[in-house]
Parts: sequence; C-alpha cells; structure tokens
Amino acid sequence: MKTNIQSVHAREILDSRGNPTIEVDVILFDGSKGRAAVPSGASTGIHEAVELRDNQSSRYGGKGVATAVKNVNIDIAAAIRDLDALDQTQVDRTLLELDGTANKGKLGANAILGVSLAVARAAADACHMPLYRYLGGATACRLPVPMFNILNGGVHANWQGTDLQEFMIAPVGAPNFAEALRWGTEIYHYLKKVLKEGGYSVGVGDEGGFAPALKRNVDALDLIVKAIEGAGYRPGEDVVLALDPASSGFYEDGLYHLRTENRKVSAAEMVAMYADWVAKYPISLLEDGLAEDDWDGWKLLNRELGNKIELVGDDIFVTNVERIARGIKENVANAVLIKLNQIGTLTETVAAVRMAYAADWGAMVSHRSGETVDSFIADFTVALDTGHLKTGAPCRGERVEKYNQLLRIEESLGESAIFAGRRNVLPRVS
Ligand code: PGA
Ligand code: ZN
Repeated sequence: MKTNIQSVHAREILDSRGNPTIEVDVILFDGSKGRAAVPSGASTGIHEAVELRDNQSSRYGGKGVATAVKNVNIDIAAAIRDLDALDQTQVDRTLLELDGTANKGKLGANAILGVSLAVARAAADACHMPLYRYLGGATACRLPVPMFNILNGGVHANWQGTDLQEFMIAPVGAPNFAEALRWGTEIYHYLKKVLKEGGYSVGVGDEGGFAPALKRNVDALDLIVKAIEGAGYRPGEDVVLALDPASSGFYEDGLYHLRTENRKVSAAEMVAMYADWVAKYPISLLEDGLAEDDWDGWKLLNRELGNKIELVGDDIFVTNVERIARGIKENVANAVLIKLNQIGTLTETVAAVRMAYAADWGAMVSHRSGETVDSFIADFTVALDTGHLKTGAPCRGERVEKYNQLLRIEESLGESAIFAGRRNVLPRVS
C-alpha cells in the first residue's frame, strides 16, 4: 500500500530552553512525509509518562536524548515499518505493545510521541489535507480562544517572581481569532509599559510572559487589569483572566508555601483566597489551583468554585484516562488540561479529550514550557474542537508559531471559520 510506512528516523535537536529533545521524520512508500518534534515540561507532574533522558552527565548535563533517538531508529522503526500510516490506532497500539510498560519507561514517551505525531503528519500529507482537516474531519472549523500567559512566575521564572506560575488573559469578546490575537498582543505590550512605569523588570520567562519580582501574587492581577484597560479593552467583557498557579510546585508537607508572601497555607485557605479573587477580578478559569494528589482539596475547590469558573486539572490528571475517570467519579473539577507528551500517543490523547466531553467537561490543549517551533497543537485544537488553547505569551518564536498557525487555519477556512468566544471558555457556566 502506498500509505504504508517506509522509514522512520529520529534525531536530537534543541528546545526553546536549549535542552535536547527529539525530532522524528516519517516517510511513506508514496513519498509522503511527516515531521514532528516533542516538547518538554519544567513543572512536570509526577504522574506523567516517562521522558527518557540519557542521564549521562558528560553530555548536556545528563539531559541528552540519544537513547530515545536510538529507540526510535532501531526498535520502533522495525516495529512500525510497513504499517499503514492512515491507521493511527494500529500504529499507536503497536508502539504501546512494544514498550510494554504502564508509563512508557522502556522506550520513552518522548520517543513514542515523536513517532506517533510524525505518522499523523505523513498520513495527512498522503491525503493532501491540512493536519487539522485530516485529524478533525470535514466539519472542523472552530478556532480556539487563545489563552495568553502574559505574566510568568514559579519555576518558569526561576522562582524570582510570583509563586503562581501563570497569569493568562483570554480575549473572549473578540469577533474572530485574528482579532483575539491582536487584542491579546496589544495588552501584552501595554503590560510592559505598566511594569516599566512601576519600576519592575520586563525580562521574560520560559513562556514569553514578563517575570517581575512582585511582593504579593495578587499584585499580578491588578497590573494585568490595568494593562487591559490601558490598551482600551474592558476587563470581564472583552477579556477575562485565567490562572495556572501550578501549585504542585509549592506544595510541601500538606501546605502551600507562598514564598513571596512568607506564608504557608492550607488547601482550605487557598480555596478561600481563590474565591476572594474570583469575587473581585474577572477570573474565568483556574488550572491546578491545588496540588496533584490533594484530591480532598480539589473536592473542596470544586464545591466552592465549580459552578462559577472553569476548574482545569493538569498535574492531577496528566492527560491520563484512568486519572480523569477518577476525577469525574469524585467530582473534583470540570475540565482537563491536554498535553500530548504527558501521555505519549495521539490516540490516548484523543481518548482523554473524548472522556472529558462525555462527562460534559471542558478540555484545554496546552504547550509545554520547553517547546520547539512544531505547531501540531494548533491544528490538534481545531481538529478536536476544544474551544481554547494555551500556548504562552504572544512573544518568543516557539510560542508565536502556534498562534501564527491558527491565523493560517482561520484564513484557509475563510467564511466557514467560527471563533469559540466566551461561551466556550466556560463550558459548564451559562
Ligand atoms: P510545564 O508547565 O510545561 O513546565 O509543565 C505548563 C503547565 O504547568 O501547564
Ligand atoms: Zn499547568
């Protein structure tokens, strides 16, 4: 068959933090080609699939991925050669069986994901279709609300800024994606001005947002509201706020350590703090408000805020259907963050999105803090119709490339394009 896999080749490349990662090329018998590169997290959840690193200190401080590259070029290439690239499920199942572990620890989730995504791209090429059309079918036409992470803290700012990792703006009132991108970008630039006037640093963090050393976490909200207004938009009407505290990163011995404020607080106090903020600021979404194994805290959070805002689980669910199923059963959230490299194959990622939808939950696709210029997630978001995507500030090439790809998709859809807008950032809230 013409669409069968002829060759698979991986190489070690660099990500946006200057760390090695894996890039895979797949070629089919008809000459169709697919290339994909794998991102890498810094505030990685402990339940994520294994990112295989060489741990050989003489190369890249142990972060090399030569072993993962070798796993692709020898074992994986032999196992999937001659499989039909149009049968993604079979390809992914073969990869899972070859690995044979629960956490992809043998071949590495980075090795497996690079192959899984490159196969999908090659298949799309063979069908002469853009990736979003191949993955999403004839009716895929909805552009996501871009969730711009314009102020970075936590590990993405080397713990020099806020404890909370991500302060995002979502231009839900924009008429289309291109305008949403313009609004978000203008606010980002205005925030730079506000920070400069306040005497803060305007250096950027790993995801392109500014990383000022603020005294209190809540100060970020005031500065951002000021920037939204300064740029000529209405907070709460045109643009809403979203947070990803990535709180697993400052959870120790049952308490949340807010270092900048010199306080250690319980889950209940964190929930009270969020509830206070939601009452005072136009916050529509909170991701990882509590830590990855603080299930009781999450239940409390969902009881308190689950009917007001979107509560997204990242480290707690790690795009893993077993953990998402538990979350649905125990009613701890109302949305799932979707990161392809947390689970390691395209098929399993799609299953995670579908499980969220079946429970009437939201799904938000996400980049990682270590990225490449690969824009697979932009097409994936349109294909799966998730309504929102977070991929950093409108700054740094690896972030901007995803937003630019969405511009191209919107342009190619022409009159058929729909913008997700307000209702889709808040799936359970009318
Ligand atoms: P990471 O951060 O890619 O460093 O894990 C992103 C997030 O926490 O959502
Ligand atoms: Zn997160």
